[in-house]
Amino acid sequence: MRILLFCGKGGVGKTSLAAATGVRLAELGKRTLVMSVDPAHSLADSFDIGAGLFHGQTADPYRISENLDIQEVNIQREIKKHWTEISTYITSILRTTGISGVEAEELAILPGMEELSAMMYVNQYRREGRYDVMILDCAPTAESLRFVSMPTTLDWYMKHVFPFQRTVMKAVRPLANRISPVELPPDTYFGNMLDLFKKLEGIDVLLEDPRITSVRLVTNAERMVLRETQRAYVYFSLHGLTVDGILVNRVLPEQISDPFFQEWRVSQQQILQEMDAYFAPLQPRRVPLFTHEVSGLERLRELSKVLYAEGEDPSLVTRTERPYRFEKIDGRYEVHLTMPFAAKGEIGLFKKADELVVEVGTLRRHIGLPTSMAALSPARARLTDRTLIIEMKETP
Ligand SMILES: Nc1ncnc2c1ncn2[C@@H]1O[C@H](COP(=O)(O)OP(=O)(O)OP(=O)(O)O)[C@@H](O)[C@H]1O
Ligand SMILES: [Mg+2]
Repeated sequence: MRILLFCGKGGVGKTSLAAATGVRLAELGKRTLVMSVDPAHSLADSFDIGAGLFHGQTADPYRISENLDIQEVNIQREIKKHWTEISTYITSILRTTGISGVEAEELAILPGMEELSAMMYVNQYRREGRYDVMILDCAPTAESLRFVSMPTTLDWYMKHVFPFQRTVMKAVRPLANRISPVELPPDTYFGNMLDLFKKLEGIDVLLEDPRITSVRLVTNAERMVLRETQRAYVYFSLHGLTVDGILVNRVLPEQISDPFFQEWRVSQQQILQEMDAYFAPLQPRRVPLFTHEVSGLERLRELSKVLYAEGEDPSLVTRTERPYRFEKIDGRYEVHLTMPFAAKGEIGLFKKADELVVEVGTLRRHIGLPTSMAALSPARARLTDRTLIIEMKETP
């Protein structure tokens, strides 16, 4: 089973390329699901299924053709299904602040709920063995990073905070509810959290296994888009995910000779060259700008033929190198982190309990250390050839 994440900046063509990839896989006989994780769904539009504006039909897998389903996670429905206790509690708190009714319910949709709901489906379908490939059409980069960091964050919360909080709450609730300005979470809230956690169990392992999950970064040949793509590459690596493809969409075709586009052509060529160098050994694939929108099964098929060679299987595993690994070299312990493009100054390292914490920019990653290294602390770090090598030493 494979999970392919299509990620990138807003509007670059994630949905179109994810959909076209689904079309190809289904043609190869693979049972394929394309799932939209972006709350602003446009997958049904991409397939032009003639659904209503708000796509009620695609909240469950919707059959497009033999072997191909699409699904658009409907957060209102998911809340009723999985998040009742949590959102009821948050709604009740919001009410005490004067926000009422529908507005409170809207606000009780926490950031990340869509992503978690999508992951529950991925986990469920995997257990059922329902699909050979699940393609996730992600929200623009910032949100999709939340998507991948969510399981580890939740895992951390469930291990470190949750048991403590629940016990404390049990003890203080009767008293505190009389004096606290807001109601404290009832025990059902914790029960709900625990249920959710069980539904997500194991998903972090799936996401970090390069033989199962690969990230495909969709980009355009423009400076700003390239920079965001590079950042995304670093962040995904930091979160233990493997990027195995860069797809450059909307490249101006050779035959455009209009002088208006001359400057665009030149700058695109330059950026394409930079991309080849940056992402090596990955070879960015180029997709031309079409003369028309890519909408409907026929056009998606056309796109899939440009994107992949005849008979090529986009779900093949082409990269199995893990973004980080532990080494023991001459008695020294080291953590090797794949760190494409990150400058050393931007990286922060420290130790928290038995975890190594790595910070790049505003993102933070907890790396659970193996027992042999759990007592060690980061001593030195050096950046060599896209790998950050962190030397671990005994704390004096
Ligand atoms: N190579 C292409 N040539 C012409 N039109 C394209 C191409 N790729 C995508 N489009 C069109 O561009 C528009 C945006 O594409 P798409 O919805 O796939 O982007 P997205 O990255 O998913 O956007 P969002 O961030 O809003 O989800 C669509 O109308 C699509 O048909
Ligand atoms: Mg989209």
